Amino acid sequence: MSTKDLLTAELKRYQGSWVSGESLSTGLSVSRSAIWKHVSKLRNQGYIIDSSPNKGYRLEKAPDMLLPEEIQEGLKTLVLGQKDIHHFQETTSTNTTAKELAANGAPEGTLVVAEGQSHGKGRLGREWFSPLGEGVYLSLILRPKLSPADAPKITLLTAVATAEALRSFTGLPIQIKWPNDILVRDKKLAGILTEISMEMDAIDYVIIGLGLNVNVAAFPADLRDTATSLLIETGRVHPRVGLTRAFLEGFESWYGMLQDTGFEPVLERWRQFSAVTGRRIVVETMGDRIEGTALDINRDGLLIVEDDEGHSHRIYSGDVTLKRGPS
Ligand code: BTN
Repeated sequence: MSTKDLLTAELKRYQGSWVSGESLSTGLSVSRSAIWKHVSKLRNQGYIIDSSPNKGYRLEKAPDMLLPEEIQEGLKTLVLGQKDIHHFQETTSTNTTAKELAANGAPEGTLVVAEGQSHGKGRLGREWFSPLGEGVYLSLILRPKLSPADAPKITLLTAVATAEALRSFTGLPIQIKWPNDILVRDKKLAGILTEISMEMDAIDYVIIGLGLNVNVAAFPADLRDTATSLLIETGRVHPRVGLTRAFLEGFESWYGMLQDTGFEPVLERWRQFSAVTGRRIVVETMGDRIEGTALDINRDGLLIVEDDEGHSHRIYSGDVTLKRGPS
């Protein structure tokens, strides 16, 4: 741990109470002027720290920023986010940054997080609305020992981990729209963009990009009818760091299960969150449009749709629209 991290931990241990500069400097084995320098840096990052010549320092409030030391504090994972977290105030897209890092050899579990994105990427070439400090924008680098054909399973697993984290934090009726849109009351709360690099017939790396609309106060006009946030749904501000931790912990456990036990448990859980099963839907695939009833997802994660002539279709990838009203 760096001196700054140790100082942060120490100030947090005494949060709300004074701790003298002398005891900090002795405890951390650095000079008092070094303590002052690090306190200034922490203030610049958004920590509210009082100082008094007689009493020392007092941490009033830690920021809800996706800072590595904040995420890592009490993070109960073995690998994910434990070592390298790259934090940006703003980046174009955390997925793009993560791809560059992965191409340069970044190990499994490397995390890229940003307070905002200037060119957040959504599925199917869309843009992901990424206002500063209001959402969670993260990308995770994975190097799974799976065949490329199994890669879509990681996306479904990500949706499960996201839905569980959101439901346990808020109690909202979170659902998943195949393959990986996270909805509440049919509006989109979170999205997942998976990007894969393959070498020969093996996976080199997978980037899992997750965007969570946490404290987004308002959406642009074109998204207002289809997107929502935890703030809008609950009327409360939610801790972005806590949600990030919950997602990473849940993800790691499901990811381990996928590699050790297989896809079946993930699938079972996914079905419990399904927003599509039994609903009338329209699926747009490459060059095709199918309207019908979503029956299930099969053991490979493909969507099974029955059209109005009674024909069954297996959908590998596509864009699903839920139809309103009875099926
Ligand atoms: C979707 O269209 O539903 C997928 C949205 C994925 C957005 C996230 S935000 C973090 C990561 N970086 C990106 O540029 N996109 C993903």
